[in-house]
Amino acid sequence: MSQRETWATRTGFILAAVGSAVGLGNIWRFPFVTSEGGGAAFLLIYLLFILLIGFPAILVEFVIGRKTKLNPVGALRELGGGAWKYVGYIFFVTAFVILSYYSVIAGWFVRYSLIGVTDGYDDAMAQYEDQAAEQETIPADILFDTVATGLDSMVFHAIFMAVTVGIVALGVRRGIEAAVKLMVPALIILLIGLAVWAATLPEAAAGYQYYLSPNFGEIVANWDELLPAAAGQAFFTLSLGMGVMIVYASYLGEDRNLAKDGGIIVTLDTGIAFIVGLIVFPILLTATPDPDGELLIESPIGAIFVAVGDAFSTVPAGTVLGVLFFGVVALAALSSAISLLEFVVAYLIDEHGVQRKVAALGAGGAIFLLGLPVTYDLVFLELLDYFADSVLLLLGATILVIFVGWIIPEVAKDELSKGIGPLGSSGEAWIWAVRIPIVIVLLVSLALGVMDYASFLTGDFADWISANL
Ligand code: TRP
Repeated sequence: MSQRETWATRTGFILAAVGSAVGLGNIWRFPFVTSEGGGAAFLLIYLLFILLIGFPAILVEFVIGRKTKLNPVGALRELGGGAWKYVGYIFFVTAFVILSYYSVIAGWFVRYSLIGVTDGYDDAMAQYEDQAAEQETIPADILFDTVATGLDSMVFHAIFMAVTVGIVALGVRRGIEAAVKLMVPALIILLIGLAVWAATLPEAAAGYQYYLSPNFGEIVANWDELLPAAAGQAFFTLSLGMGVMIVYASYLGEDRNLAKDGGIIVTLDTGIAFIVGLIVFPILLTATPDPDGELLIESPIGAIFVAVGDAFSTVPAGTVLGVLFFGVVALAALSSAISLLEFVVAYLIDEHGVQRKVAALGAGGAIFLLGLPVTYDLVFLELLDYFADSVLLLLGATILVIFVGWIIPEVAKDELSKGIGPLGSSGEAWIWAVRIPIVIVLLVSLALGVMDYASFLTGDFADWISANL
């Protein structure tokens, strides 16, 4: 057997991990769940989660991966033995479910980029002015509704999935990492530019108020919904809770400082999401001002499309910038989608000896079918997305944290110290946090997440089924 490859350069690993982490979670999901959680109340809980739980949890996955130099299933089998290997099934299902709707949403970004090419955002919006006036909203809101479901949504889901399958089937990864190298900086520059522009809008202050100034009464009153939502978003955006970071770290040399690398990844990912909020909320509160400072758009799920679409229909050179923005995000989504499908395919190859092309086509086809209902009605987006975030990722993360904190604490501390030097009390603090408080918070979040999901199934979802079937 050949010796296992390691990342050639430090930036190679960080870029790959950042390429996985930065995606629709930052650009689409973050503003959407933030607006559902009432803005600043959500943001505060979310940032606490990233810092106190996300960062220790990324180290949990890193030490498992670098220690064993194996995939998640093999790693848990080797370190824990027995039943631990079955945890891999949960990861497999999670990747499968996430990719099914991820592809639909990525398709919306592709579509939005093309709208700029074919119509320009100003003309595209102009079409919906009458309808918007009737429904007391803005044209960008209506445009989003027309893109989100229906035949177009289906076609773009198919196209996006086909490209993802093609790349994974051929096993061409090199070009992708080069693309990430350009894409992440391009994205950051575009986002900063938009944030600066948004700061000049008439209702920018109202937007910042909504986004940045938490009402503690609201947090106390809604903690049972905020907690699982913030936890789910934190794990989703960092690609945690499904063993992906185990895979990346398995290629890592012993000389690397895991804490430092983890810190860079978490900071970049969180910074990007934070800037997206600085863009979205000033635009939305300017476009649909509300005396109470609430968001008045019909489709919070499409907050980023509505806000940025609206902006690009008014600013000079908006069409060019918009094509670029939606296109770059589609690429960021592609790099994440590839790693999700690669994860599923690697599992089928390693554990069941399936051929790469067969695995990619078969899994890709099944994932495409699972995502199809989302293009029909967005209630299915909630069905899949909440299941992945509030249940599967929290479950996976809880298991991994318990594993490291209780089954292999000494091995984990030792592994973390490689490339750093003696950890002293900070190593103890990490393991202590992982053993008790983090496990407790995750178990509470998971229990709440399961209950919220159950009430969605018996409430909104059941209502939809009885109204439509
Ligand atoms: N973090 C990605 C995003 O924010 C989504 C994601 C979750 C992911 N888990 C993953 C991507 C695993 C790749 C692999 O969009």
